[in-house]
Amino acid sequence: MKKSSQISGFYKLTPKERIKLVKDFADLTDQEIDVLWSTGALEIELADRMIENVIGTFPLPLGIAMNFLINGKDYMVPMAIEEPSVVAAATYAAKMAREKGGFFTSSTDPVMIGQIQAIDILDPFAAKMKILTAKNEVLKKANEMDPLLVSVGGGAKDLDVKVIDTKSGPMVITELHVDCRDAMGANAVNTMAEAVAPMIERLTGGRVYLRIISNLAVKRLARAYTVIPKETVGGEEIVDVIVEAYNFASADPYRAATHNKGILNGVIGVVIATGNDHRAIEAGAHAYAVKNGQYGPLSHWEKDSDGNLVGSIELPMAVGLIGGATKVHPTAKVAIKILGVKSANELGEIMTAVGLAQNLGALRALAHEGIQKGHMSLHARNVAITAGASGPLIDMIVERMVEERKVRMDRVKEILEEYRKKGKI
Ligand code: MEV
Repeated sequence: MKKSSQISGFYKLTPKERIKLVKDFADLTDQEIDVLWSTGALEIELADRMIENVIGTFPLPLGIAMNFLINGKDYMVPMAIEEPSVVAAATYAAKMAREKGGFFTSSTDPVMIGQIQAIDILDPFAAKMKILTAKNEVLKKANEMDPLLVSVGGGAKDLDVKVIDTKSGPMVITELHVDCRDAMGANAVNTMAEAVAPMIERLTGGRVYLRIISNLAVKRLARAYTVIPKETVGGEEIVDVIVEAYNFASADPYRAATHNKGILNGVIGVVIATGNDHRAIEAGAHAYAVKNGQYGPLSHWEKDSDGNLVGSIELPMAVGLIGGATKVHPTAKVAIKILGVKSANELGEIMTAVGLAQNLGALRALAHEGIQKGHMSLHARNVAITAGASGPLIDMIVERMVEERKVRMDRVKEILEEYRKKGKI
């Protein structure tokens, strides 16, 4: 039977009830559930092998964004994030998207760029020609470094050479194009760049210094689009306000940065949950946002001939399923199982769809009811917890403070005192 990620009232359940549904959806074992439930899932010995100077671990909440239908397949999407509202907004947006078939995605081959910087070259343009002439030899050397990657269809496929002008004079930059298959690829690409460096020095007569992957992964793009019926989003007026919000972001980098932050709220939640490198994704996304010469929004919103809202997005997506923390971190391994993804490309496409959904959730909230009300309850929640409220009292106090428009620590204490006197606690 085809499993659905659309479960009404999921948010009203307890974590225990929710995990039962996720267990059924993803065929989790009891052991995997133990991993999700243990705040110490990452053993200190393992953590100590992952980075240096380890003194502990840092748990985050792991939520599930529901309702995601991507290319006709249902996904429950695990998101690790500290910010309230993000998982709920993604879930809500994915529900709106389902009506016209959800999200439709595609991606390029998983090709990363490795840069080799050569300097002190008197005839940089001739040097460029020499490298291009020796292309096959350079690629052969690079591929000798990773026969396993080559055996699964990946490896160094091509190269480009550019001469750039810098304050230190001209530099000849060789760029290896490496198909990384299911790896994020930093290790493979860096190893290849290092291996071909002596060859580049010999060919150019220059000196090679930096040999490193580029995080502006323009050859590894993931794309998604969705159509939201105008009635579902709240009417044609709301469609127009969302398109205007997009136009605002297109014209103003100050707004575009926040627009893109909303997209990354979704993307990065999944990136962290799956143990991927979020700095690489963030760096790539922001650099890609400047591709037209001015920092702009990573998504597009437009209105079709029926007045429906159409969203699309394209992002560099350097994520992997093997290597890094993805295969080491116990929680990341369970998150990947919940997603049920079979390739890094599929994972990147899901993240891109989640980014688009998150963007839609934020824009709709901004356009529709004003994000203020939602933010106020979240702020009230944090204030209530900080001031000592716990359990069911939190919701009761939040409701009262929002109603009274008095979100303050002293008010929490007063309400707590009132409940105490009435014997409610
Ligand atoms: C908050 O984390 C994200 C938003 O500011 C995004 C946006 O303004 O589009 C709500």
